[in-house]
Amino acid sequence: MTDAIALQDGSRHTDGHKDGPQAYVFDAYGTLFDVHAAVRRHAEAIGPQASAFSDLWRVKQLEYTWVTSLMGQYRDFRALTEDALDFCLARFPGVDRGLRADLLNAYRRLDCFPEVPSVLSALKSTGVKIAILSNGTPAMLETAVEAAGIGGLIDDIFSVDPLKIYKTAPAAYALVTSAYRIAAPDIAFQSSNRWDIAGAKAIGFTCHWINRTGAPDEYRDLQADAVFSSLEGLVESRP
Ligand code: LAC
Repeated sequence: MTDAIALQDGSRHTDGHKDGPQAYVFDAYGTLFDVHAAVRRHAEAIGPQASAFSDLWRVKQLEYTWVTSLMGQYRDFRALTEDALDFCLARFPGVDRGLRADLLNAYRRLDCFPEVPSVLSALKSTGVKIAILSNGTPAMLETAVEAAGIGGLIDDIFSVDPLKIYKTAPAAYALVTSAYRIAAPDIAFQSSNRWDIAGAKAIGFTCHWINRTGAPDEYRDLQADAVFSSLEGLVESRP
């Protein structure tokens, strides 16, 4: 056991993390849920450009979060996901617009990555808190969690929606520290999105980049504390 130090803001910080993080907080899309599962389910109908279509859908969805946030405006993540899909349908005119509703329905119920249930279960059995922190709306996240059958493994879902600003705004990550009264270094934050790791590191979380695609590193002044190719690395590295 380590001595807990009471910080000025009332939160508690364990000396030297000898017990490991007190909470594991996960990004949702791309980290727990496979954002490409929606297009994959309809890949045959979309045709040979399915993979490029899916990549652009994700890129545009994220671009819209940053652009609206910088303007001080907000449309929720469900609306931005639809806007991004509409852009893709316009960009790929060969893709049947009749797939729009099917793709959006599939996005609501994405597959989780295969290791997610066992990893969350193993972490939860150690007594730590397990949470999601996501740009998704509460309704999107609740549906996704329920569809993936992982509701019993998640203690809390934090959505940026009440803030009306997206990650990487520091306020988004502070949702967790404020709610848990745990100091940032004692919170382990996991994301497959390198930009999200940068945002979480900027407020001091212990960051695990889940580099599922073998992407090159970036944001070098905001380094991850560890890099794993899947969430399984969390269990293997837990003290
Ligand atoms: C999320 C997206 C951006 O916040 O990955 O879940």
